[in-house]
Amino acid sequence: MTSPLPSEIGPVQTVTLRGRRPRDLPVLRRWLADPQAQWRDWDAPYFHAAATTATLRAYVERLEHTPGRSDERVIELGGECVGMVNRSQEEPAGGGWWDLGILIYDPAHWGHGTGTRALALWVTATFDETDAHVLTFTTWGGNERMIHAALKLGFREAARIREARLVGGVRHDSVRLDLLRREWPPQESPAIP
Ligand SMILES: CC(C)(COP(=O)(O)OP(=O)(O)OC[C@H]1O[C@@H](n2cnc3c(N)ncnc32)[C@H](O)[C@@H]1OP(=O)(O)O)[C@@H](O)C(=O)NCCC(=O)NCCS
Repeated sequence: MTSPLPSEIGPVQTVTLRGRRPRDLPVLRRWLADPQAQWRDWDAPYFHAAATTATLRAYVERLEHTPGRSDERVIELGGECVGMVNRSQEEPAGGGWWDLGILIYDPAHWGHGTGTRALALWVTATFDETDAHVLTFTTWGGNERMIHAALKLGFREAARIREARLVGGVRHDSVRLDLLRREWPPQESPAIP
């Protein structure tokens, strides 16, 4: 799964999704186990930080002893591991509803189209590899990069729970976006950078 990035943002770099390899572990450990990492301000920042840190540290520990799973992939940018995508089935299994997730670790890589590219690859892979009928992303109103990237690919706002999430003392909406299998790929060419 590969997809080129535009040349105007620098040397052409390719976004690829692939399974996790042992050599990715130092990168994962560095970004996932760091409670100060900036991505923590954007990816579900409404959860208690200490609990998230404990969960992530246990997750990294587990990674060292388990092979990669098909429901998680590494995002490679120009051959470098820069993030991850994952997916999980909403209950009941086999019901055709999968929720997707994405994380690009380094803020230096945000806002250059990498996330949109990786999401497009992950949507295609999920429709190819599963019986998914509908895909969702679940985020919060302050995460405009996430919402904008999903909307660009044809996701629609499916639910907005007003003021459901407390982030830094401010209330934000919980936002869910959805995409049906028959809507992919979009009829009109999506604004993928
Ligand atoms: C969310 C994330 C995956 C998006 O990837 P990305 O590479 O930064 O996103 P892209 O550059 O492809 O697209 C972001 C879009 O949002 C737009 N955007 C950025 N800030 C915005 C804002 N404040 N308001 C509206 N749009 C905004 C960008 O302009 C871009 O759209 P464009 O290409 O039309 O200009 C990435 O930023 C990330 O990993 N963030 C931290 C973790 C996280 O939030 N994960 C999601 C949890 S649900």
